[in-house]
Amino acid sequence: MVKKNQAMEENWLNDEYVRYYNSNYQTSPEEFAAYLKLLEVNSQDVLLDLGCGNGDFLKTASPHVKMVIGADISPLQVSLARERLKPFANASVICSDFVGCAQALQRQCRNLPLITAVFSRKSLHHLTDPEKRSMLQSLAPLLAKGAKLYIEDGVFFSFEREHIQENLPKLLEECARYYGEAWERKRGDLLNSFLNEHPTGIGFWTRELEAIGFKVTGLHPRSSFYGGISAKKV
Ligand SMILES: C[S@@+](CC[C@H](N)C(=O)[O-])C[C@H]1O[C@@H](n2cnc3c(N)ncnc32)[C@H](O)[C@@H]1O
Repeated sequence: MVKKNQAMEENWLNDEYVRYYNSNYQTSPEEFAAYLKLLEVNSQDVLLDLGCGNGDFLKTASPHVKMVIGADISPLQVSLARERLKPFANASVICSDFVGCAQALQRQCRNLPLITAVFSRKSLHHLTDPEKRSMLQSLAPLLAKGAKLYIEDGVFFSFEREHIQENLPKLLEECARYYGEAWERKRGDLLNSFLNEHPTGIGFWTRELEAIGFKVTGLHPRSSFYGGISAKKV
């Protein structure tokens, strides 16, 4: 297992950090398969994974859909994912940041069909709210009517991001209950994520998804600060 050293900041362009993440935060194929059910994928789907990491979810999804496409900013993640997906002729992975990924998809995937399913887990909190809006608006024309979407990430389900400071004491109490004995170990990382990364409120996500023609069809909070959002393009 790769160990994190004191100086290792979360930086997806640092291969040492990527290796640390991949070896410490693995997800089982069973857990990824459960997301396929949530997304209700079928054999005709063209599935895009935003922040595909080393390609584990794409590998699980590939036999169940027509095509899988991954996008990730880290050249190391992209090369690991491409290696992992070599046996799957219906898979491709592009190296791009989220905001530029609609353009990169059109440039790099020849005869790109309309995308019918979008998945993103633990990735979009890296974008500020204006960046999330910009990414959604540029992707919108590539998404088919009826397209399904599942985002799972840091999401504030009971307040909006601009009210984080007044909600922080309550949030930290909930974290302490949620993580139990592990809380003291996790406290620094969680505080850093709440304050310095960009988890955002459910109101923001709902508004921005509606603005590109989606309707939120389900909320899947695991806590008040992390969970999933299902939506469909109407
Ligand atoms: C926490 S990992 C999650 C990986 C995978 N989705 C999972 O659930 O295990 C976040 C991924 O998002 C990618 N990422 C972070 N910021 C990004 C950005 N601005 N544009 C594209 N990818 C980004 C990272 O390289 C990394 O692979």
